[in-house]
Amino acid sequence: MRTRPLKVALLGCGVVGSEVARIMTTHADDLTARIGAPVELAGVAVRRPSKVRAGIDPALVTTDATALVKRGDIDVVIEVIGGIEPARALITTAFEHGASVVSANKALIAQDGAALHATAEQHGRDLYYEAAVAGAIPLIRPLRESLAGDKVNRVLGIVNGTTNFILDKMDSTGAGYQEALDEATALGYAEADPTADVEGFDAAAKAAILAGIAFHTRVRLDDVYREGMTEVTAADFASAKRMGCTIKLLAICERAAHGGSVTARVHPAMIPLSHPLASVREAYNAVFVEAEAAGQLMFYGPGAGGAPTASAVLGDLVAVCRNKLGEATGPGDSAYTQLPVSPMGEVVTRYHISLDVADKPGVLAQVATVFAEHGVSIDTVRQTGKDGEASLVVVTHRAPDAALSGTVEALRRLDTVRGVASIMRVEGE
Ligand code: NDP
Ligand code: HSE
Repeated sequence: MRTRPLKVALLGCGVVGSEVARIMTTHADDLTARIGAPVELAGVAVRRPSKVRAGIDPALVTTDATALVKRGDIDVVIEVIGGIEPARALITTAFEHGASVVSANKALIAQDGAALHATAEQHGRDLYYEAAVAGAIPLIRPLRESLAGDKVNRVLGIVNGTTNFILDKMDSTGAGYQEALDEATALGYAEADPTADVEGFDAAAKAAILAGIAFHTRVRLDDVYREGMTEVTAADFASAKRMGCTIKLLAICERAAHGGSVTARVHPAMIPLSHPLASVREAYNAVFVEAEAAGQLMFYGPGAGGAPTASAVLGDLVAVCRNKLGEATGPGDSAYTQLPVSPMGEVVTRYHISLDVADKPGVLAQVATVFAEHGVSIDTVRQTGKDGEASLVVVTHRAPDAALSGTVEALRRLDTVRGVASIMRVEGE
């Protein structure tokens, strides 16, 4: 057992960082035994130094994060500030000054993961980010290590705790969107700017990271088709219920059947109540991974929150410290293929379309003709009349997204169609 401690710099001491510091202190003896050397918190960089931080020695607190990572005696930097800058510059400087890095920053890894991995490799350092996707759930390591001998074809799941919390509250208690978002923010689940959660940017960043690792290719944030959940209404939930479904914000990454391309998308979708994802409540996340030999695997657990996320950070800290003592590095970037990312128009799935139409003879036939003209086959139609108007809900068979978009455009041009109330994909059947 080495007695000289490994020195850790903590960048950020908010929801996640404060829990990382707490666990490092309360579990110090176990961490020492598991790593084979003590770990010492050598500095904590924050924005507001005067804020009282329970359990943190004020002498360790600094606003000069750059000086901290440049000290030269830091073994591991934990970056839990978030955002692109200064996090990116600090991580790069950390590698240049001899430290390995553990980060929870999905926005940064999705945008600059390739460059950061290259810098880490150039300096012989580790870059670990288990906490960046799905909070406490071990997902990056199973994909990168346990499934390294298999071929992953699909990753599908709920990867944002805030939006799952909001959708769950809207569905189960009838809570309003803003009320549920405020509660998720108070519980520490939401990003500094919750737009990242509700507009699907956070889930898209996670999808880009997951697709890149799962398919060993480069998937950029811009490659991920993204729709947020701000337009999901109580009427959508009522409609979903009538179909025996609920609504979840899903991230879906797929290898095309021919194997030559991949897709990655984030959007709200109806899923049957019998599907395991339908029972994922509150800020929990769940991800299905389908691999050729392993079959279907499901990963489930807390997807956000200080302590759960800190658990994943600490797991990485132990791994990186062990590597350091063994004078080794862990697995790096594995994007050795260059599979094209197909556009959303090529994705094939089912759709639930809700239309407001005139309630008169021939309207249904007119609508059905538009679907037929675009090669979209109708599975079911439900009509509810009200004062000369009717609400028409059409559920389709599987069709390419481009065909559905063409259908909706043409429907909007019909005089008898007063409006397209909602369009939602139906998944998991
Ligand atoms: P918080 O906003 O709670 O904490 C951010 C911390 O960074 C604060 O301590 C803040 O200082 C500090 N900080 C901000 N700017 C600077 C700067 N320029 N220099 C030094 N310190 C700075 O964020 P979270 O803890 O929620 O999130 C941190 C990271 O973890 C993000 O990347 C997030 O996406 C990720 N993450 C978060 C999860 C969660 O459930 N919250 C789950 C999974 C990942 P001060 O305290 O003085 O304001
Ligand atoms: N804001 C994120 C979420 C934190 O709600 O899932 C976890 O990555």
